[in-house]
Amino acid sequence: VMTKKRNEQGHLMIGNIDAVHLAEQYQTPMFAYDVATIRSKARAFKRAFEQVGIDYQVAYASKAFSCIAMIQLAYEEGLSLDVVSGGELYTAIQADFPMEKVHFNGNNKSRREIREALRAGIGCFVVDNFHELELLEEECGNLQTQANILLRITPGIEGTTHSYISTGGEDSKFGFDLFNGQAEAAVAQSLAVSSIQLQGLHFHIGSQLFETSVLTKAIATLYRHIEHWRTLHGFIPGVINAGGGFGISYTRYDEPLEPKAFVETIVHSIREESGRCHLPIPEVWIEPGRSIVGEAGTTLYTIGSQKEIEHVRHYVSVDGGMTDNIRPALYGARYEAELANRVTQRDEKTYAIAGKACESGDMLIYDLPLPAAKSGDLLAVFSTGAYGYAMASNYNRLPRPPVVFVENDEHQLVVEPENYADLVRNDRPLNM
Ligand code: LLP
Repeated sequence: VMTKKRNEQGHLMIGNIDAVHLAEQYQTPMFAYDVATIRSKARAFKRAFEQVGIDYQVAYASKAFSCIAMIQLAYEEGLSLDVVSGGELYTAIQADFPMEKVHFNGNNKSRREIREALRAGIGCFVVDNFHELELLEEECGNLQTQANILLRITPGIEGTTHSYISTGGEDSKFGFDLFNGQAEAAVAQSLAVSSIQLQGLHFHIGSQLFETSVLTKAIATLYRHIEHWRTLHGFIPGVINAGGGFGISYTRYDEPLEPKAFVETIVHSIREESGRCHLPIPEVWIEPGRSIVGEAGTTLYTIGSQKEIEHVRHYVSVDGGMTDNIRPALYGARYEAELANRVTQRDEKTYAIAGKACESGDMLIYDLPLPAAKSGDLLAVFSTGAYGYAMASNYNRLPRPPVVFVENDEHQLVVEPENYADLVRNDRPLNM
């Protein structure tokens, strides 16, 4: 059950701040993050590793939500950082994030991105394919430098999640396949290049996982191959990166596992498998994104128009929608929401919450019970901290909303709202 904090006036609280005040001071739509929640998630992952006593890194997957303040927060919490583009790397550089704690993922890193990352001196490339291995070797040569790498292995195991975000199965654009000898060839090739240090292996099963058994299965599968690679190539992994994907609660029906449960399963399986193979216990890395920031974010919207179709649906439109949260339209993702500006009253009716984009599919929630909603009411949609702002667009030339961090009694703008001038910044008038 999701219980949200309210003050004596019955207004929703984010940290110790009244959501109505936030909406008045900034604007709607806006993203408000409760920084205490981000910190506590980061600490839960770290604590779980400390308790099982193993060398580890928790790398925040910044694709879930990246901005300079967020990267600074990740640093304060002692996290490493997973980036997947030159843009995410640039953000990390602007935030003064220590480059040796940056890992670079992605299935089509460009030569330019590889060069930028080598120049920046990042800690590790998670190499996805042979093309990247060649680019990396060439660029190491050009820059007279070396690179630490993990190889991304596709263990051929599906997480039970939406197919768009399931990444570990046999038919995947990511990684070196185990079943057809690609992974072994990649190990051999990496070991043969003197400018490349093969530190270990990486896999990522999928996102929004609610069970640990897929992780155990993936690790067991991987180790059956690692055994052979030791015999054939003398390879001993110093790092196993088990990826991210740890599920969170979007609605009261989601019952996510604690960070501890995932970490314990991963570490336990890796210890058991390396013991069975008489291999030293490697460092264990993970790269959670959603589970660090997802539940910490709330989107505040103002309710505008309504349209009731008797016996069919009662539409309530808000001042944002798919441009700040594409997940319902793209994945059929479900969210919960409440009126933030009202004393909690008995829900009166089921509403369909529509976005403002010119697209019938721009719906945020299809069946939300609420007290009678009026134009001007403030609607808070919960658990929007991951892949909300990060996937926002300017469709319909809607400016992107501001992002505000709240911590206890303080709040601060961390991403400015876009304005109309921002929308035409890159436009050039016709002159031919
Ligand atoms: N590591 C790798 C290699 C990944 O591909 C991903 C996510 C993560 C870590 C972080 O996963 P997380 O802990 O955040 O679940 N836009 C989709 C999610 C795409 C996830 C892509 N990869 C969504 O809104 O659900």
